[in-house]
Parts: sequence; C-alpha cells; structure tokens
Amino acid sequence: MAVRAGSQPTSSFDRPLPVPPLARAVTDDAGVRHFTLTAATGTTQILPGVATPTWGYNGTILGPTLRARRGDRVAVHLANQLPEATTIHWHGMHLPARFDGGPHQPIESATTWDPEWTVLQPAATLWYHPHPHGRTQKHVYRGLAGLFIVDDDQTDALDLPARYGVDDIPLLIQDKRLRSDGTLDESDSESVGLLGDVIVTNGIHGAFLTLPGGRARLRVLNGSTARMYNLGLADDREFHLVASDGGVLQRPVPATRVALSPGERVELVVDVTDAPLMLRSFPFGDRAGLGAEARGFGVLDSFDILELRPSGVPAPRQLPTALATIDRLDPSSAVQRRHFELQWFEINDARMSTSRIDFSTTRETIEVWTIENTDDRPHNFHVHDVQFQILDIDRRPPPAELAGWKDTVYVPPGRPVRLIMRFADYGDPTLPYMYHCHMLFHEDRGMMGQFLVLGPGQSPQPVSMT
Ligand code: C2O
Ligand code: CU
Ligand code: CU
Repeated sequence: MAVRAGSQPTSSFDRPLPVPPLARAVTDDAGVRHFTLTAATGTTQILPGVATPTWGYNGTILGPTLRARRGDRVAVHLANQLPEATTIHWHGMHLPARFDGGPHQPIESATTWDPEWTVLQPAATLWYHPHPHGRTQKHVYRGLAGLFIVDDDQTDALDLPARYGVDDIPLLIQDKRLRSDGTLDESDSESVGLLGDVIVTNGIHGAFLTLPGGRARLRVLNGSTARMYNLGLADDREFHLVASDGGVLQRPVPATRVALSPGERVELVVDVTDAPLMLRSFPFGDRAGLGAEARGFGVLDSFDILELRPSGVPAPRQLPTALATIDRLDPSSAVQRRHFELQWFEINDARMSTSRIDFSTTRETIEVWTIENTDDRPHNFHVHDVQFQILDIDRRPPPAELAGWKDTVYVPPGRPVRLIMRFADYGDPTLPYMYHCHMLFHEDRGMMGQFLVLGPGQSPQPVSMT
C-alpha cells in the first residue's frame, strides 16, 4: 500500500492539495490579535480510503496558518486536549524565553497556555510545533505543526505572488510510514529516527495543486522529523528562491535544486505555464557533504511530491531584481566566540539536561558560533530566539540562497559552519532558550543544549523543571 522509498511512486496525484486555513484573529480593544488553537486527536486519510489516527491543531492533522504583521501584539490561547502533556514552540520567532514554548513550558493534558508577545522581526515564513522534552519527534510525526507567516510593509511592496491559497501557497512536506491497519508506524531506527516512505503534502499523499498559471510562490517547510529533501522540478526547469528561514533574500536566486533539512523553510517562485509539472525530491548528488553513514538517512531516495497544474496561460512577469538590503553582521564586533561539536547525540560531549545551563550570553551583543559536525552522518543546527547569518561554510562564503537570515542550517560532516548572531530585546536570568539538531530523534536523544540571555547586570538564576 505504501509507496516504496527509492522506487517510482505508484500513486496518481489526483487529490486536491489541502491549503491550511488562515487562523481567525480577534483583535481586542488594546489592539492585541488573539488566536485560539486546540490540540487534539483525530483521524486523517493520508492515503485515500485509509483512516490514520493523527494529531492536529483545530483539525485532525497540522494546524491553521497564523498570520501577523511586524509590530503586532499577538496572543495565542492553546488548549491541550491530547492525552498527554505537550508544548507549542514558535520556530524562528524572536520572543521572550518564557513564551518560547520549549521544554520548560509544558502544557499538561486538559490544561491551557496563553503566550503573548510583540512581533519584532521582518516578514518571514515561520512555523510552530510541539517541543516537549524527549517527545518532540512523536508529537510532530503524529501531525502537530503549522505555519506562522509574518508580514511587513517592505515585503508587501514587492511584486511577488501574494494571494494566499491562490498563487501564494503554504507547502508542508513530511514523510510517514503506515502499517497495514492504517496506523502510523512509530518504530525508530537507532540512527535516523522515523523515516517514512509515504511523502505527505499539507497532510495528504498524492496531491495536485491548481495554479492560475504564471508565477506562483511556494512557502516550503521541511516538516519532516529526519528526512532531507533535494527539491526540483521534474523537467529540471529553473525556479527562483526568494526567501530563506528568516525572510526575503537580497535578490531572487535562480536554481534547479534546493536542499532542505528538517525545520528549514524556503520560498520559491516557479513559472507554471503549460503542462502539469511535478515537484520532486531528487537523490543528493554531493555524497561528500553527507557523511559515510548517510545512506540510512534516505538521501539517495527520489520521490514525486506534488503535481502543479496550470489553469490558464497568463503573460510572463519578471521578478523584481532586488528584494531587500541585508546588512551583514560584522564578526569583528563579536564579543564572544563559541564552538559546538556535533557527534552522536551529543553537543560538546554532553547530552541535554534540563537542569544544566550550558552557557549564558548578554543581551545586545553579537556572537560568532562555529558548528562542527565530527560525525559520519548528517546533522543540522537550530538556534532559538534569533535569526542568524552564515559567515562561511568550510571557510568559504555561503551560496546566495544561504546568505540571508536563517534559524536552521545543515552542517555537513567535516565542514565547519560559522554563524553570527545578535541577541536583542529580551533578557531572562531564569529561563533558557534551546539550540539543537533539528533531526528530532537526535534532539530527543539529547543533541540539544540551553543558554540564557542575560540583561545588563543580571546573573543566571535558572529555575529547574519540576
Ligand atoms: Cu523547531 Cu527547538 O525547534
Ligand atoms: Cu525553534
Ligand atoms: Cu542530528
């Protein structure tokens, strides 16, 4: 029944792609935008005619797209109707540690949580997902994930496709493994974790997307727990990358492939003019950048993902030549350099402990972090609270598509990646932010650490979890 990994998919792409609805926001007298999310169990036909028990926010799988503008005050009311504790983390969002939704903000079953913050960052495609200590992989795999789109005036002014659900399409790509009774197979492999052979777009397998014809923008999230994708179009046509994790790039970057490790996002603009076009994940060609043990991570697999169907043939439109000015952070202004070694479920020879603060940093300072994967298998690296810039990868400047704002980066074995970041606005001596490998099995096994951002004159006073 399941489509076999590495083989030609057997499915026909004949199910309309579900587009996550925009979450309704209620604005109160003080101007705060209130969203309501309920996490609960349900049943989804990931494969047609097969009932699979799943988890979702305000639905049976995934969640609505939250949307807010830079400068907005937002409040989320999360009701946990799951049979166990969860958390909700705002991946890529710059916000106070106490609302970050990491392992220190558990929401017990049948209780609620009400984070509230001001959106202070540029337009970007962010996402939200659970982050309970040691349980993140399973919660995400069962279906808990959604997008959070931030808008701002600069990005609105760009001539990019921007009609949500029409030519501006959220696309969450994930993989599942189904047992013959339709339930999700949750057996982990000891190295990669959950790797599925059923590729799922916005919650279902075998979808097509009808587009007006002409330019369309896909906001792609690799929402898989472990699988990496090497995306392209079946006829190898060129598309343009316009945004990375934290917002638009300086200018559109032409590409025929784009690699996404778990947690990363990319916005791409594709011209769909004549015949249906297949979005596909191709085998990774650069084996050296993957490590000797990478085969087990599915990097040689190829999958059809989504069929794009034009419904008209409009006149071709040019993309803007410039999108944004991204000021480069200056490494000579860094007050601190840190080194992180990724190796077999450990960072710097230690597994995550919720009662150990790995280091503290200071608000309004710049730091340079070197991430080194000394393992023989793939890992990536995600930092909470900030969007960072990549200074270099293996001592070479990053390619254009990685030169914008990022919060998650693939770290090839043996090729150190240097990041620069600035900690701003929020200090808290009591509650940490996380950094970790976003292959969620690795994260759950302890490939994660915690840091405090201290305000001026503060000293660490971490509260331990109960
Ligand atoms: Cu996407 Cu620490 O998370
Ligand atoms: Cu995060
Ligand atoms: Cu890892």
